[in-house]
Amino acid sequence: SNGDIMSRATNDMDNISSTLQQNLTQLITSIATFFSILWMMISISIPLTLWVLIIVPVSVVIIGIVAPRSQKYFSDQQRHLGLLNNQIEETYAGYTIVRAYNHEDKERQSFAAENDQIYKASWKAQFISGMIMPLMTFINNLGYIGIAILGGIKVANGKIPIGDIQAFLQYTDQFSQPISQITTLTNQIQSTIASAERIFQVLDEPEMKNNKQNLPVKKEKEIINFDHVQFGYNPNDELLMTDYNLPVKKGEIVAIVGPTGAGKTTMINLLERFYDIKAGSIRFNGQDTRDMSREKLRSHFAMVLQDTWLFTGTIYDNIAYGKENPSKDEVIKASKAAHVDTFVKQLPKGYKTILNEEASNISQGQRQLITIARAFLANPEILILDEATSSVDSRTEVQIQHAMETLLKGRTSFVVAHRLSTIRDAQHIVVMNHGSIVETGNHDSLMKKNGFYADLYNSQFSGKVVI
Ligand SMILES: Nc1ncnc2c1ncn2[C@@H]1O[C@H](COP(=O)(O)OP(=O)(O)O)[C@@H](O)[C@H]1O
Ligand SMILES: [Mg+2]
Repeated sequence: SNGDIMSRATNDMDNISSTLQQNLTQLITSIATFFSILWMMISISIPLTLWVLIIVPVSVVIIGIVAPRSQKYFSDQQRHLGLLNNQIEETYAGYTIVRAYNHEDKERQSFAAENDQIYKASWKAQFISGMIMPLMTFINNLGYIGIAILGGIKVANGKIPIGDIQAFLQYTDQFSQPISQITTLTNQIQSTIASAERIFQVLDEPEMKNNKQNLPVKKEKEIINFDHVQFGYNPNDELLMTDYNLPVKKGEIVAIVGPTGAGKTTMINLLERFYDIKAGSIRFNGQDTRDMSREKLRSHFAMVLQDTWLFTGTIYDNIAYGKENPSKDEVIKASKAAHVDTFVKQLPKGYKTILNEEASNISQGQRQLITIARAFLANPEILILDEATSSVDSRTEVQIQHAMETLLKGRTSFVVAHRLSTIRDAQHIVVMNHGSIVETGNHDSLMKKNGFYADLYNSQFSGKVVI
């Protein structure tokens, strides 16, 4: 989910970077201190040093027992933090819906529940790893006492001067400092490992393959050719498309219609290679699209979807996004064709109006028009509008269709539209149902056929539904 991925990129990354920045230097200092003191102690008395060194394996055993137990909770903590982030992201994105359905309390409760999970994992992780420090101090103090007793005996026997024992005891005390520091660090390092695991999960995801097939380039007049395409989203499930054939000539406007779930968006996803087909081929100018890199293939397309994507910035910048360094005339021309110009002129700041993050200061339909203007400006070889005018009134929708014919002369375009009245003039109508093409033709020929299209068309006007 978005929120979880975002949490990995922010919280987990931050966790790793702060460990590297702060604790790594501390770790180096501690190690250096440890060996310097060790050297000093050896120079005073080797038997006493050996006694002190018993501390080290005991410490290692303690850390070895305690650390893995808290590690589990550190992982839990980071995981729940990701889930909480996702929940926050979702509820904010759907804030209006949450309020409209009176779900504030429910959302608050599920937030509290998730928050509680973090709290539980977090305190357990901190508690268990927090035990390391006092345990270590205890062991160190035992060592200190041992040295005091052993040293005292040696001094009484006159084997060692009292000044040396005095110095040795101070070193013993200092010796424990780097060890305690390192153990405290294990705490931080553990949560860093938990974070690193979550980041590597993302990095280790398999890359998309660019499976070159080296199929021969065919000479054909069609710019796009769906040739006996078979496709299903899940390899185990039934296929959605069993035998899909659609040749499209350069310059054609293809209108794709059909009920919801018919596979219209799927067909466009296949065209842009968001998914790979199971059998058959999709050719672009005679070349199998699987032989082209995704970047190269997609550079020929501009796509406008039902979901608008606008960024914080002026309307002008949002339209200009479609092309590198467009001239002002080009932007205005595109926005006139997409009927953006009319409503923008009525805004007090015109094209300089800043769209906020959700672009909630203009209507959904106006947002769609801006994204269409952006695609018009991009002037791609192939333009795809997937229900891009669903929130626009039918009159403007028809006007945009006509603008496409004049403005994008010679361009090939695919238009998915629900309101059949708006595609009446299209020369090439493809009617889809259950992943297959059931009819093709223009409005008149399809109406004459009195088949699926005629049913769809009539039901939109009479309100009668033929099942
Ligand atoms: N990402 C996906 N994973 C699995 N099934 C999907 C996915 N996207 C769409 N489908 C299924 O494929 C069918 C066609 O969907 P789609 O092409 O989006 O329909 P539409 O004609 O309304 O655009 C639907 O039955 C849908 O459930
Ligand atoms: Mg769709």
